[in-house]
Amino acid sequence: MELRFQCLGPEHWKADILLAPVCRDEVLHEASPALDKAAPWLAIAPAARDFHGKTSELALMHGHPQQNIPRVLAVGLGRREDMTPAVLREALAGAVRFCRDHGYASLLLPEALLARLPGGRERLVEEAAYAALLALYDFRDLKKEDPEAPVDPQWLTLAFEGEYVPDAAHAAARRGERAAQAVMLARDLANTPPNMLAPQDLAERASRIAHQQGLRCTVLDEEALRAEEMGALLAVGRGSARPPRLVVLEYAPEGHEQDKPLVLVGKGITFDTGGICLKPGAKMHTMKCDMTGAATVLAVLTALAEEDVPRRVVGLLACAENMPDGGACRPGDVVRAASGDTVEIQNTDAEGRLVLCDALSYAQKMWTPAAVVDIATLTGACAVALGTEVAGLFSDDDALVERILAAGQVGGEHFWRLPLWKGYEKNLKSQVADICHMGPREGGAIHAALFLKHFVSDGVRWAHLDIAGVDWADSVQPLGVCGATGFGARTLLELARGGV
Ligand code: BES
Ligand code: MN
Ligand code: ZN
Repeated sequence: MELRFQCLGPEHWKADILLAPVCRDEVLHEASPALDKAAPWLAIAPAARDFHGKTSELALMHGHPQQNIPRVLAVGLGRREDMTPAVLREALAGAVRFCRDHGYASLLLPEALLARLPGGRERLVEEAAYAALLALYDFRDLKKEDPEAPVDPQWLTLAFEGEYVPDAAHAAARRGERAAQAVMLARDLANTPPNMLAPQDLAERASRIAHQQGLRCTVLDEEALRAEEMGALLAVGRGSARPPRLVVLEYAPEGHEQDKPLVLVGKGITFDTGGICLKPGAKMHTMKCDMTGAATVLAVLTALAEEDVPRRVVGLLACAENMPDGGACRPGDVVRAASGDTVEIQNTDAEGRLVLCDALSYAQKMWTPAAVVDIATLTGACAVALGTEVAGLFSDDDALVERILAAGQVGGEHFWRLPLWKGYEKNLKSQVADICHMGPREGGAIHAALFLKHFVSDGVRWAHLDIAGVDWADSVQPLGVCGATGFGARTLLELARGGV
C-alpha cells in the first residue's frame, strides 16, 4: 500500500472508502465538518446508529455507489480520555485489514479527524501512517501466488482541507512510513529461513542496502576477524560451514562526519542450534530470529540515511551461525577475546554474548562513541522474567535509560529496566580464565548483561537491550502476523532521531 496526500476541499475527495476514527458516543457525522461534507449521506446512514465507538469497533456504512465517497468505515477509539497513540494504532490497523479483506483498493483518512483527537496532530498522523502500513505486513516471498488470497489496498490517502498539504504533517506521515519500513525490513530478514540467510548473506544484504543508501559499509571476513583477534566471535562460528562476519555500517551525513557517533551493536546469530550444547527440538526453528538485533540495526541505519537525520550513527552486525560440528567449540574451551581477556566457555548455547563482546571492543577501539547500545535476543531468562510484551533494558546510565524508555514509548515498544547487580559479578569468575561467559541459571539475563559490561570501559555510555521473548510472536498481534516482530527497530530509530 502506498501513502498519498491530497488537499482541497472534502467535496473533491474520492476513494473506495473513508476511514473515520471517532471516540465513544460521538455522533459520527458531527465529528468533523470535513466528514459531513465528504459524505453528507452519513447523517441518515442507518448503520451509524448501531455504532458506539468502542475501542477497535468497526462499522461499515454504505452511501450511493456513484458518490465520491461511497463508503465510510467508522473506527472506534474508545473513551476520549483514554485515547492514546497506541489505541489509534490498533484501531486503524484493524480497519486497514478489514479493507484488505473486503478488497477496497483506495482508502482515505481525513487529517481533520485526527487533528481533533488528544495527543498532538503530527504525532497522530505519524502513528496512523505507521500502523496502517505495518498492519498489512506478511512474509509471502516463498509462497506461490494464491489467487484466493486477499489483495492489499493500493493507496492510503491522507486528505487535508486546505490548499496545500502542511509541511509538518507531510513530514510526520513520511516519518511514520519510514519507521514502518524499518520494522518490515527487520521482520523480513528475521523471517528469512536460516538456510537462505547465512552470515555471508546477511553481510551481502547489508552491503547492498548500504550501497543503495550511501552508507559506508565494511565487512570483516574470517581473515580480518583473525587480524582483529576476535577470538570469541570466531569461536562461535567455528562449528558452521558458513563462516562468521562482522558488518560495519556507518552513516555520517555532511557536516557531521566528525561527530562522536551513536554506535548500535546487533546480535546476528543467523541460526542458533545451541552448538555442542544442542537445544531441544521443540520450537528450535524460531532460532532463525536470533539475528533480530542485527536486523534492527541494519533497518535503522537504512531509515536514517533515507531520512537525512543530522547525526552520525555506526552500526555493527556481529554475525555467526551456532552449529554443532567436529570443528565447533566445546564447553570448557577457553578463547581469547579481542579485549585480550581469556574467556571460559561453559555452555556453547550462550553464544550471543561471545559475538557481542568482540563487537563492543571493536566499537570502543575504532570510535569515541557518544553512546553504545547493543540489542540482542540474548537470554531465555529474560523472556521468562518479562514475557512477550516487554523487553529487558540494562544500563548504569540513568539519562540513557530515560531516553531509551521514552523512545520505546513513542512506538509502543516497551522496555523494563533490570539491574546490573554488582554482587553477581563474582559469579562470572573462572577457575581457568580471566572471565567465564556465564553464571548460574538464576538471574541469567543479569549475568549475560554483566558479562557484556565487562567489555565496556568505564566512562563509556552503554545500554544493553535483551529482546529474547519479544522478537517472535506465536499469535497474531495488533500490528503484525505470527513470526518475527522486528521489535527494537522503531525504538532505536526514535533514539537515533532524537539523539542521545
Ligand atoms: N538465543 C538464545 C536466547 C533466546 C531464547 C532467544 C529464547 C529467544 C528466545 C541464546 O543464545 C541462548 O540460548 N541463551 C541461553 C543461555 C544459557 C545457556 C546461559 C539460554 O537463555 O538458555
Ligand atoms: Mn544460544
Ligand atoms: Zn542465541
